[in-house]
Amino acid sequence: MGIMSFDLKKYIAQKRKDIDEFINSYFNPSIIPSILHDSVLYSLTAGGKRLRPILCIASYEACDGNKNIVPYATAIEFIHTYSLIHDDLPAMDNDDLRRGKPTNHKVFGEGIAILAGDGLLTEAFTILANPEYADINPKTLLKVIYEISKAAGLRGMVAGQAYDLISEGKEPDEKIVEFIHVYKTAAMIKASVKSGAILAEVSEEKLHRLETYGHSIGLAFQIIDDILDIEGTTEEMGKPKGSDIERGKMTYPRVFGIENSKNQAKRLIEKALQEIEIFGEKAEPLREIAKFIITRTK
Ligand code: IPE
Ligand code: IPE
Ligand code: MG
Ligand code: MG
Ligand code: MG
Repeated sequence: MGIMSFDLKKYIAQKRKDIDEFINSYFNPSIIPSILHDSVLYSLTAGGKRLRPILCIASYEACDGNKNIVPYATAIEFIHTYSLIHDDLPAMDNDDLRRGKPTNHKVFGEGIAILAGDGLLTEAFTILANPEYADINPKTLLKVIYEISKAAGLRGMVAGQAYDLISEGKEPDEKIVEFIHVYKTAAMIKASVKSGAILAEVSEEKLHRLETYGHSIGLAFQIIDDILDIEGTTEEMGKPKGSDIERGKMTYPRVFGIENSKNQAKRLIEKALQEIEIFGEKAEPLREIAKFIITRTK
C-alpha cells in the first residue's frame, strides 16, 4: 500500500455508500408528514458530492480514529443540505436547479422547503447529541457540537450568508469578499475537518494543523465555486451557471479577476498540504481531496 496506490475515486465511492446507507435508514416516514419526508429525502439524495462528511471521516482516520463515525459525519451533510435548500429560495439566490434537479421549493413549495431546511438543521443536532452511535465520550461530542453549531450559526455560515445577500450589487471590496467566503463556506468545511479530529481526541498541535488545513481548503473551495459560475457548465455542476453574475454577487473573480483568484486558490491548497505533512501516509485522502478542490469541474 504505497502512497501512489491511493485511489480517491474509490475512497469517495466507499464513503458515499456508507453515508447514503445511513441516510436511507435514518428517517421514520410514519411520524413525519409525507410531503416533508419526501422533501427532505429529495434534497439529501439528489447527488451531492458529500465533501463535508467525507472530510470529517478522512480527518478522523488521519488521526487514527477507528470507530464508525458515519452518523456524526452525516449530520454535517444534513446541515449543508439545509443551507443549500435555503440558499436557493426566491428570497435568497432564487435558483431553479440544484444537484441536477429542480430546487426543493420548485417541487414542494416554499413553505415545505423552509421547513425541510429547519428540520435538517435541527435533526443534525439530534444525531450529534446521541453518544450511542459510536460509543463516543459525551464530553467529546459536546466539543463537536460546539464546533459545528458555531460554524453553522450567527458566528459562522449564517453571518456569511447575510453578508453575501446585503453585498449584492455593491462595489467590489477585498475585505468583504474574503469575510463572506470565510464565513459562508470555509467555516463549515473547517468544522467538518475539526470534528473528525476532535472525535479522534487528537493532540492540540495536530488539531491546530487540521484547523488551518480546513480553513484553507474551505476558502479555496468557495473561490473555485465562484470561478465555476463563470467557467463551468450547468450540466456538470447541476446548478445554473451565471447565477452570481445575474445577481451581482460579490465574488472573487469580480473583486480580483479570474487569474488572480485561481492563483489565490492554488496558494491556499499548497498551504493546506504543507500544514498536514506531519500526518504522513494516513493523510493521503486529505491531500487528494485538497488537490481535487482546485481541479474539480463540479
Ligand atoms: C455548494 O456546495 C455550496 C457551496 C458552499 C459552494 P457543494 O459544491 O459541496 O455542493 P454539493 O453538496 O456537492 O451539492
Ligand atoms: C452558498 O454559496 C454557500 C452556502 C452556505 C449554501 P453559493 O450561493 O455560491 O452556493 P451555490 O453556488 O448556490 O451552490
Ligand atoms: Mg448564495
Ligand atoms: Mg447560491
Ligand atoms: Mg456559488
